[in-house]
Amino acid sequence: MLKGKHIILGICGGIAAYKSAYLLRLFIKAGAEVQVVITPAGKEFITPVTLSALSGKPVISEFFTANTGSWNSHVDLGLWADAMVIAPATASTIGKMANGIADNMLVTTYLSAKAPVFVAPAMDLDMFAHPSTRRNLQLLQEYGNHIIEPASGELASHLVGKGRMEEPENILKAVDEYFTKSQDLAGRHILITSGPTYEKIDPVRFIGNYSSGKMGYALAEECAARGADVTLISGPVSIKAKHAAIKTINIESAQEMYNASVAEFPQCDAAIMCAAVADYTVENQASHKIKREYDEIPVIRLKKNPDIAAALGSMKQDGQLLVGFALETDNERENALAKLQRKNLDFIVLNSLNEPGAGFMTDTNKVTIIGSDGTCQEYGLKDKKLVARDIVDTLTGKLS
Ligand code: CTP
Repeated sequence: MLKGKHIILGICGGIAAYKSAYLLRLFIKAGAEVQVVITPAGKEFITPVTLSALSGKPVISEFFTANTGSWNSHVDLGLWADAMVIAPATASTIGKMANGIADNMLVTTYLSAKAPVFVAPAMDLDMFAHPSTRRNLQLLQEYGNHIIEPASGELASHLVGKGRMEEPENILKAVDEYFTKSQDLAGRHILITSGPTYEKIDPVRFIGNYSSGKMGYALAEECAARGADVTLISGPVSIKAKHAAIKTINIESAQEMYNASVAEFPQCDAAIMCAAVADYTVENQASHKIKREYDEIPVIRLKKNPDIAAALGSMKQDGQLLVGFALETDNERENALAKLQRKNLDFIVLNSLNEPGAGFMTDTNKVTIIGSDGTCQEYGLKDKKLVARDIVDTLTGKLS
């Protein structure tokens, strides 16, 4: 997938810079064209002569070329690139990237780049663990950059811990996989339900739940980034979809979510039911605000909401896929499997409320994907964006 791709390799001042020469060679061997941009500190660790010999291009470090005075255009470079890979990325450069401090050619190029950016941090374990580094990496991830997590092992300080730049082969693999996957949902239409539903009690009160919508929105962004047109049917949440290929339909109640889902599903290749739908709605909804001075304490009577996933399960045609979620507290797998069968799902994503860091209102999740074919794959605790990637990988593997 890397054949003919234009790659900017950004190199910062860290001992792992010696591995960048090997990474550069791997990119060239894979058929990519590579332009090295190095920070002034990077040149203390590896010489531009080595890098330009391997890439077949002059290495860019300064805004102007000293002997000719010609200007190195970071804007043109940013447009030329199909990907920018910063390896090693030091704490200092990560901080500058996160905060837009454009005092060198590498950071200005990063700010101008329209292509996906991969960041492979390398630093001492305490620097990596510092809240400032954590926050800056979190910001970079929120900007849509891909963080290639460092490995654990012996560091330049001889201390052992997390902070070693990922091996060049694995960095190459991450970039290659991105291009392989990048458009694997092109031409597909995916429906996603997300967030909570609000069931009105009276004009100012409702029954709701703690769903933040983060998992469903992460799924929508992942599908859109991989080329799909996404219809996101969302309950009330405080976040917004960013990708232009996501059409958001905002609803409040389960009945509204049902109506929109049933109308959209026939045009879709797959639906992912990520919403935390209220099982019951208020039968005796008051048309006026319920007042405290009522003689009797009001009684809220409930009635069942439609099961949206089950409705889509019975509408499902050959070639369409249906994915559900299950949030369980006990007998997790049996309950999830029963739901999968009851709703005619192709696979179900089980998340446990018993896991710290998983479930509602967190940025992370820990899931097990159970297939209708009996497969069962457990994943570790990760950011919801990465969980979304695992789920969409499973989906694309099953789409015909
Ligand atoms: N779901 C739905 N419509 C509903 C209830 C649930 O589409 N009225 C979907 C959810 O989006 C999820 C799956 O069904 O994908 C399972 O939701 P969950 O709340 O775990 O299951 P329920 O069917 O509500 O069963 P229970 O409350 O008994 O666990």
